[in-house]
Amino acid sequence: MNTDFVQSASVQDLLDRASGLDTEGGDPRLQHILRDLIESVMTLIVKHDISESEFWKAVTFLQQGADEFGLLVPGIGLEHFMDLYMDAKDAEAGRIGGTPRTIEGPLYVADAPIVEGDVDLSQDADDTGTLYMNGAIRGMEGEPVKGALLHVWHANSKGFYSHFDPTGTQSPFNNRRRIRIGDDGRYAFHSRLPSGYSVPPGGAAETLMHALGRHGSRPAHVHFFIEAPGYRTLTTQINFGDDPFAADDFAFGTREGLLPVPNRQGDAAYIAFDFVLQKADQVDDERFSARTRAVA
Ligand SMILES: [Fe+2]
Repeated sequence: MNTDFVQSASVQDLLDRASGLDTEGGDPRLQHILRDLIESVMTLIVKHDISESEFWKAVTFLQQGADEFGLLVPGIGLEHFMDLYMDAKDAEAGRIGGTPRTIEGPLYVADAPIVEGDVDLSQDADDTGTLYMNGAIRGMEGEPVKGALLHVWHANSKGFYSHFDPTGTQSPFNNRRRIRIGDDGRYAFHSRLPSGYSVPPGGAAETLMHALGRHGSRPAHVHFFIEAPGYRTLTTQINFGDDPFAADDFAFGTREGLLPVPNRQGDAAYIAFDFVLQKADQVDDERFSARTRAVA
């Protein structure tokens, strides 16, 4: 059978009806996108001659893996693809330069404590070294960004994030802060050194990665949002350039320009890293994406 089957009148009619395109009401954008989505799935069913058993296996996988969608989406490269797509649109519009964006991941928690100065992100003890990170937050002309709020979050030495720690041993907002930046645009923090991590054992993401012959591990990294009046909100992260997974991140979050190699001295690791923000061109630039995020 070839995929022309999907173009047959009966299947095309089914698509119109299933997406609501033959009705008066409904959201037209959603109707057209969903129609294309279902048609794409039908086409791949025919292209790969997917059997009924394989089809239901996939449905069951998605049902049972629903709570790991936040890991599956980066794992299959779609979250990184969104970055590539936004980068390409920016380039078309002449908006180039500045610190690269990269994936947010599913583990941000809103309303972390707001702090100032050279801050300690960690309130929990941890059997690991200390990360010292500092640098400037600048605009494209080199100017210090005024009024910035730097959101920072990272895992502990076991690779677990507060609020998502299966051992239940971390206190709320451990390794999570929002740092209010002064007019000089400088930031500095220290914390218990994070480790890389892997997707939960036995979960949907690991099941899929293993079925693909891949692993589900990430290098040690630190996540950031930076928001500042007049500037484009940046979602990014730095990954440790000397981590064994630095060039092999299952989530595709590592990017050129975001892989500083820590200067390690004993059990201390020092990273100097400057952030460069683009100016906001429109109101939306200063907003966060509408992604649903955890609230403590
Ligand atoms: Fe992460």
